[in-house]
Amino acid sequence: MNKAGCKFAVFMKEGGSQESLQREASQFIQEMALDSRASKSLMKSGGVEIRLGQIADEIAATGIYVHTKSEVEFGARLAWRNSNRCVGRHFWRSLEVRDCRDVHEQGDPVASVQEALLNHLKEAFNGGRIRSVISVFAPRRADGADPVRMKNHQLTRYAGFRLQNGTLLGDPHSERMTTRCLEEGWQPKARTPFTALPWQFLLEGESAPLVDVFASAPERLHEVELTHPEASEFASLKLRWYAVPLLADMALKIGGIVYPLAPFNGFYMGTEIGARNLADLDRYNVLPDVARIFGLDTSDNRTLWRDRALVELNRAVLHSFDLAGVTIGDHHQLGAQFEAFCQAESNAGRELAGDWSWLNPPMAASQTPQFHRTFQNDVVRHTNFFYQEEPASESSQQKGGKSQGGCPFHLS
Ligand code: ARG
Repeated sequence: MNKAGCKFAVFMKEGGSQESLQREASQFIQEMALDSRASKSLMKSGGVEIRLGQIADEIAATGIYVHTKSEVEFGARLAWRNSNRCVGRHFWRSLEVRDCRDVHEQGDPVASVQEALLNHLKEAFNGGRIRSVISVFAPRRADGADPVRMKNHQLTRYAGFRLQNGTLLGDPHSERMTTRCLEEGWQPKARTPFTALPWQFLLEGESAPLVDVFASAPERLHEVELTHPEASEFASLKLRWYAVPLLADMALKIGGIVYPLAPFNGFYMGTEIGARNLADLDRYNVLPDVARIFGLDTSDNRTLWRDRALVELNRAVLHSFDLAGVTIGDHHQLGAQFEAFCQAESNAGRELAGDWSWLNPPMAASQTPQFHRTFQNDVVRHTNFFYQEEPASESSQQKGGKSQGGCPFHLS
């Protein structure tokens, strides 16, 4: 997300008019009709014209329309296929879609949503054989209100504690969220470089109390401790990462309808951890420590000690996930799979859109097929994943600032 730098766009309610909602619904339903598998369920409800007529009546009467189960299912998969920045899209059809649209209405809303997410995490982890799963919660209402949202960026994320001496312990990416949690009374059992953050929901725009799901049941937290295939001293760095990247703060839009809470996961590509999260200068920045373990000469960048340390760190990530039996992709393998996706899209007669700078891995990019391709980067707006503004009560720092308006990857 930091690559785009368009995280703080000012948010206007998407799809302001009934016409634009109708138009986006129609674009989506027509796309569904073109899909040989998804079109079957559309035919059952009478076909494109009948369904679009129903949708038009519903929008005229209520300002919104309700998706059928198969529309949610195909819509979530299509949103993945349309995600220009995602290199893992080859598997878009295999996304497991959990329809959680009325979960917040069952008993205690926080407890019910929390349970649904814990089940998602379990299903996704699947004993290490990670499955791609999305849970789709209640849609945004016609008046623009969101029944349920989450403040966390991912379901598992490590805290970043600002210490009294000014240094940061943990993940700098989480500093703001960590500070907010502490202000709201979070009492972490221990402050370590890898302390998982609690969860926080917003119900009807109001913050619900924090839930420290991993502190109360540590067995829910699936992590991999990093070791190196040859250098046993590597373990002394005490590095680790969590198993499942599960994004919780992006909005899913299907045919113009916005789902502000629709957490989804895939499996990691090694470089996300080894060449970004642990290596970036403004994240864990561990390359100097890795270089020390391998006795690299760090006196001059031209020894390429950074490059050499990156390779060893990334070998450790892949090796450790493999050893732990947790699914992880490497950038060569995923590059080849993305190439297969490009071919499949072309065979289906669709023009592929992509964001070159995101599709290329942060190491050895030129060794992957996507480096040698160019992509048009038009964003399909009717059905996609979008960044959204931080929940209103929390965005005071950005209020009034129109810093990144117009970014195509944001709800606008
Ligand atoms: N890059 C993010 C992270 O390191 C995760 C983004 C989604 N990644 C994925 N493989 N599905 O946590």
